[in-house]
Amino acid sequence: MNQIPTMPASESPPPPHSPQPPTATSSKKKAPIAISVTNLVKKFNDEVVAVDDLNLNVRRGEIYGFLGPNGAGKTTTLNILCGLLKPTSGEAKIEDIDVIHHPEKIKTLIGVCPQEPATFGFLSGRKNLEFFGNLHLVRKKELKTRIDHLLEALGLSEDAHRPVKNYSGGMVRRINTAIALVSDPEIVFLDEPTVAMDPQSRRAVWGFIKELQEKGKTIILTTHYIEEAEYLCDRVGIIDNGKLIELGVPKELKEKYKAKTLEDVFIQLTGRRIRETV
Ligand SMILES: Nc1ncnc2c1ncn2[C@@H]1O[C@H](COP(=O)(O)OP(=O)(O)OP(=O)(O)O)[C@@H](O)[C@H]1O
Ligand SMILES: [Mg+2]
Repeated sequence: MNQIPTMPASESPPPPHSPQPPTATSSKKKAPIAISVTNLVKKFNDEVVAVDDLNLNVRRGEIYGFLGPNGAGKTTTLNILCGLLKPTSGEAKIEDIDVIHHPEKIKTLIGVCPQEPATFGFLSGRKNLEFFGNLHLVRKKELKTRIDHLLEALGLSEDAHRPVKNYSGGMVRRINTAIALVSDPEIVFLDEPTVAMDPQSRRAVWGFIKELQEKGKTIILTTHYIEEAEYLCDRVGIIDNGKLIELGVPKELKEKYKAKTLEDVFIQLTGRRIRETV
């Protein structure tokens, strides 16, 4: 089993719970907008409103935490942004490219770590990465260097030759993250990348995500580990019932809600009720 590397240590609607509109500031506030979502709606079968008039902007180089309870609409929004799902109405742009009408144009810009791991179980970790790298037409020499780095950074070098079907749950998550990055995309969508990981692996992935940001990547991260978002994210947008109900820098949100942790803010805003309808 491999050793996990240790880690070096005017856009949203007013939230219903606060009289003031969100006033998020961020160290990236002057950076251009990389991702924008305007009045986005997604209904399934005219019954479920998964995304309900959503507006958000993510700046280039930012780690944006997209938080919300089960069924809030996070994955649906990410699937629309990746061009996998058509919205009912509204607009979504990545680097000014309309993803709804031109999904083919964003493929080279984005990398996606889906909520449900998408790997070939009969192939080894390395072969999975080679397969997806070849799909993206990454040159052979560059691909090898990149794969070696990803395997090392995610603590999978020693298990790279093993079939993924024999990986543990946390290892599958890590190879899923590596696959998202094998094309060296500028924009990265990470949908619950650290689910089922032990604390060491999770910390290693945190270090890795910070490293991505240092390379200038723009990252949208969804997670139910709110301390993860607090540690990693420049800003977090909190979504519930398909609507953005709060947006801000974690530190400022804690001050605003007089909360010790971002998780306390999250609970205050989204309630303690267990979601029964998702
Ligand atoms: N293909 C689908 N058909 C019908 N309803 C769907 C479909 N996909 C999602 N939904 C519904 O849309 C809503 C939002 O789901 P979504 O997966 O976006 O939530 P989420 O915020 O990602 O939740 P989780 O934290 O559990 O992953 C839920 O009510 C879900 O049941
Ligand atoms: Mg989801």
